[in-house]
Amino acid sequence: MSDGRQFGLKTPGLRMAPSLLAADFSQLREQVAMVEAGGADLLHLDVMDGHFVPNISFGPGVIEAIRPHSKLFFDAHLMIEEPARYAEAFVKAGCDHVTFHIEVTDEPAKVIDTIRGLGASVGICINPTTPVSAIESVLDAVDMVLVMSVWPGFGGQEFIADVLEKVSELSDRLTPAQRLEIDGGIGPATIGLAAGAGADTMVAGSAIFGENDPVAAMEALRLAATEAIASHGNG
Ligand code: DX5
Ligand code: ZN
Repeated sequence: MSDGRQFGLKTPGLRMAPSLLAADFSQLREQVAMVEAGGADLLHLDVMDGHFVPNISFGPGVIEAIRPHSKLFFDAHLMIEEPARYAEAFVKAGCDHVTFHIEVTDEPAKVIDTIRGLGASVGICINPTTPVSAIESVLDAVDMVLVMSVWPGFGGQEFIADVLEKVSELSDRLTPAQRLEIDGGIGPATIGLAAGAGADTMVAGSAIFGENDPVAAMEALRLAATEAIASHGNG
């Protein structure tokens, strides 16, 4: 992983992670360049297999094709069964980080070792109704926890506010070197809630790429989150 693509460990602060799922797939290179020039901190890559989630998005080939055109940190969110089996293909394609779902495995420690062994940082994700206790045994072993604030599979869904309780709990428990990412339904009306609860890495698809001016939309979201942190604190 090059310096320009470091995860920013130990660097506190908010990170904006536009989700490529909501981009115009006919011009991925241009869409990535636009949010990169506009100050995106990570590029969130939603990989769906049609099994774990009822939708299919894109795989390593697409990621490999955009990799040479961007210096952004590539944050892969694998919504797939058998993440350990496919992790190598995603890291080889240029992913700096790989997040997998706890719901697909009884052996998360092994999946974490596999991903880390490939040289990527590791995240673990919990669905809206999966409790924090499900990832208890590996909480110390990951670089990031991703809390789903919609059911994974599709962009443009409504934010599930019940997950904020888990965000607060995780925010209290994670170390400053660990990121707390939230994904789904993040927009002008919800990003402040997520930031106030302690999320530091904000995934947004439709609220960025679905807007006429994605860069202005991203900056407005960043500002709303920053203001929420300033007025409520984020733990
Ligand atoms: C959902 C994906 C999300 C999705 C978010 O399965 O994991 O990253 O792209 O889309 P929005 O921001 O539109 O809810
Ligand atoms: Zn995602």
